[in-house]
Amino acid sequence: MYRTKTCGELRLENVNEIVTLSAWVQRTRKMGGMTFVDLRDRYGVTQLVFNNETDAELCERANHLGREFVLQVTGCVAERSAKNANLPTGDVEIIVSEMNILNEAVTPPFTIEDETDGGDDLRMKYRYLDLRRACVRKNLELRHKMAFEVRRYLDEQGFLEVETPVLVNSTPEGARDFVVPSRMNPGQFYALPQSPQTLKQLLMVSGFDRYFQIVKCFRDEDLRADRQPEFTQIDCEMSFVEQDDVLNIFEGMTKHLFRYIKNLELPDFPRMTWHDAMKYYGSDKPDTRFDMRFVELMDVLKGYGFAVFDSAAYIGGICAKGAASYTRKQLDALTDFVKRPQIGAKGMVYARVEADGNVKSSVDKFYSQEVLQQLKLAMNAEEGDLILILSGDDVNKTRKQLCELRLEMGSQLGLRDKNKFSCLWIVDFPLFEWSEEDQRFYAMHHPFTSPRLEDVPLLDSNPGAVRANAYDMVINGVEVGGGSIRIHDSRLQQKMFECLGFTQEEAERRFGFLMNAFKFGAPPHGGLAYGLDRFVSLFAGLDSIRDVIAFPKNNSGRDVMLDAPGIIDQSQLDELGLKIEVKE
Ligand code: AMO
Repeated sequence: MYRTKTCGELRLENVNEIVTLSAWVQRTRKMGGMTFVDLRDRYGVTQLVFNNETDAELCERANHLGREFVLQVTGCVAERSAKNANLPTGDVEIIVSEMNILNEAVTPPFTIEDETDGGDDLRMKYRYLDLRRACVRKNLELRHKMAFEVRRYLDEQGFLEVETPVLVNSTPEGARDFVVPSRMNPGQFYALPQSPQTLKQLLMVSGFDRYFQIVKCFRDEDLRADRQPEFTQIDCEMSFVEQDDVLNIFEGMTKHLFRYIKNLELPDFPRMTWHDAMKYYGSDKPDTRFDMRFVELMDVLKGYGFAVFDSAAYIGGICAKGAASYTRKQLDALTDFVKRPQIGAKGMVYARVEADGNVKSSVDKFYSQEVLQQLKLAMNAEEGDLILILSGDDVNKTRKQLCELRLEMGSQLGLRDKNKFSCLWIVDFPLFEWSEEDQRFYAMHHPFTSPRLEDVPLLDSNPGAVRANAYDMVINGVEVGGGSIRIHDSRLQQKMFECLGFTQEEAERRFGFLMNAFKFGAPPHGGLAYGLDRFVSLFAGLDSIRDVIAFPKNNSGRDVMLDAPGIIDQSQLDELGLKIEVKE
């Protein structure tokens, strides 16, 4: 037997037991005639002691152990004289009597400790060593627990987990596809699923009623902290449901996760319309851990000779409570922040509410104290508050800029506590999104999303105003999931394709299989998908989903450990009938 215990389980009650452990050497220390070794496995760290006086030869061997050697040791558990309160096993140590080196190790390129000396790139290259670090492993343990609780909850609710294929055709989620050439069908390609959207709808036609799958999805899109080219969805679909049924089941799932993983009981999630989210937060994924809602100031500040505001299509402000003490330097830094090209504001106006109730602004020469008092009233500002104002000639762009400023102020004022969770549903998304570039409408969610039935007449007259039966779950400003009620009526689907500018042939070629299936009795259905990686990173309090993925890709979509993607042999290319021309 390699071991009788793990490195995480010995306590005072085990004193005097003879135990065998197998694990890795974290570090060795020589102190006088004693050698101490920290032995580490997935479960924890246990201190080993080698005594030169009782067994000089064994102690000498211990002195030559390198970091990350794999050992099997047997010895007696003893109470430590100097206890380590930071370690669950810190009350005991093992007086080693036998040691077997199971494997040697070359010195790792960085220290395998929570505070490591390895930079990001190095740790990614040696990800298998990075994963030995407790702080990284902990995230994957959390991921496992969350996936397990998701399965438990959905199973209890009667959902069936069904696997869908990975070699499919293009799926319509709006990103680029990853494609795979088919050897047996020369010149033809599979596409990897951006989501199992169409397949889960087919399962509803099959009568599966409640489906889920924890499933890899693939999207060839620009990467960010919350995006990976392959990521995992908790993908779900239900039959004979309306929007409320879906929201209730999945609000329940989210509460279940918070209850069993975080030990938190959450209140019911508020529902906010997309329109209000844009108006008050400038974002369809507002961080509602803090208030600081936008106030429109067109009526208050226009018409006093300040050209920037007078010509603006939008003027909006936020009130930062208690921030009137911001110095000129801090305010200049905020102005620089909103003027960065990524945000693109032209400038920022500020106004402080002073202790005597007077308002002092950066544009005092245009505004009387009377007008500034109206501003204070509109902003619901009090003594000691700071008002920050942006304006611009494009309403949506300016709101986005103000959103960035709001988030920055939230961070600066410590209002975005990672241990606080604020969940909500965003509902009533527009069905379509207009692309200036292509001069056409695109589906905001995907082409199978049902319009709200009362808005159907607008499909011809004013498509931009049609609301969808679509919803997103947002937690702390992160879109963790989204979905919709689907169209199950083939005439309405046909109409939708028309609005999206698909010709009949194109719709037939891309989605004929689904439309055909719908002719055989499609139930009303709807669903949603969560991004598991985002959900886990939120629970872990991390900013990037990379940290909750065992083997993630870097921002250029590379796996630096495997050195993938890579070139393939000419013979493989020949077999596939492919000719590669790399453009410089
Ligand atoms: P959607 O495209 O909104 O909907 O995706 C659902 C959720 O998946 C997560 N997500 C991602 N996570 C990491 N990296 C990515 N590149 C990435 N892209 C998306 C997000 C998102 O909320 N088929 C529909 C769902 C439905 O209608 O049922 C869909 O895929 O958390």
